[in-house]
Amino acid sequence: MHRFNEPVAMRELLREWRIQRLKIAFVPTMGNLHEGHISLIERARSLADRVVASVFVNPTQFGPSEDYAAYPRTLERDAGFLQAAGTDVLFTPTIASIYPFGETEAWVDVPSLSGILCGAVRPGHFRGVATVVARLFNHVAPDVAVFGEKDFQQLLLIRRMTVDLGFPIEIVGAPTARDADGLALSSRNQYLSADERHRAGAIYRALKGVAAGVLADGNIPAHTASATAALEADGFRPDYVEVRSALTLQPPAPGEQALVVLAAAWLGRARLIDNLRFTRS
Ligand code: PAF
Repeated sequence: MHRFNEPVAMRELLREWRIQRLKIAFVPTMGNLHEGHISLIERARSLADRVVASVFVNPTQFGPSEDYAAYPRTLERDAGFLQAAGTDVLFTPTIASIYPFGETEAWVDVPSLSGILCGAVRPGHFRGVATVVARLFNHVAPDVAVFGEKDFQQLLLIRRMTVDLGFPIEIVGAPTARDADGLALSSRNQYLSADERHRAGAIYRALKGVAAGVLADGNIPAHTASATAALEADGFRPDYVEVRSALTLQPPAPGEQALVVLAAAWLGRARLIDNLRFTRS
């Protein structure tokens, strides 16, 4: 596995691969990797000849009350996982190579997707995500980039940004990796106590209950309200449980078929998010 801190040297290697007509897939991460990330690398390997992964803890997607400094940095462990999974390049850019002037002026944003759901409670978060992903895309210039469907709002925002800015990159969503009880794998799960971890599968069960209920009788407000109440009874503090269009994340139009139920809820110190897509006929 090649490792680069600076984009210039990395681009030399990637240019050679492109001359050889090798297809390049990219998996951006913030490190602190788990099996869910490894499944993204495996998906990337199935789609391309070479896989580039980045580890960059992006300061602009952390809010003032979110602890950027305390985000777990486990680079050598991450590098071991990535190498074992068959990653060809590990890109760990310096802050200065992503934000040369420190504070950035040229933000990238997709307001219709960045201000709702998680964006409503994490102002500025998705603008930071879109900005850093655009810069990483410029440095890596992959043919395809893989993002987890667990962060469904992020995936749709990046798809929209990619099309709007004309990046010639295919965006692929990879299915959420789950533990046996349905809990979506996330680096945030490490903040759960043993007792909280025991209860955390309730979030996925709540999503399945909403989807089944909406398919049975179409009553979205009743099923999201009862899922919220069930999560509260289990000790969660939900930010939202919502059914939205799976294409736009706006409230579904009557008769709209491709839907997604999304939830974000605090359990102890961990803010868990999850989603489930379903199709009504
Ligand atoms: O999903 C993440 O880990 C991050 O939001 C991303 C896409 C790597 C941007 O920093």
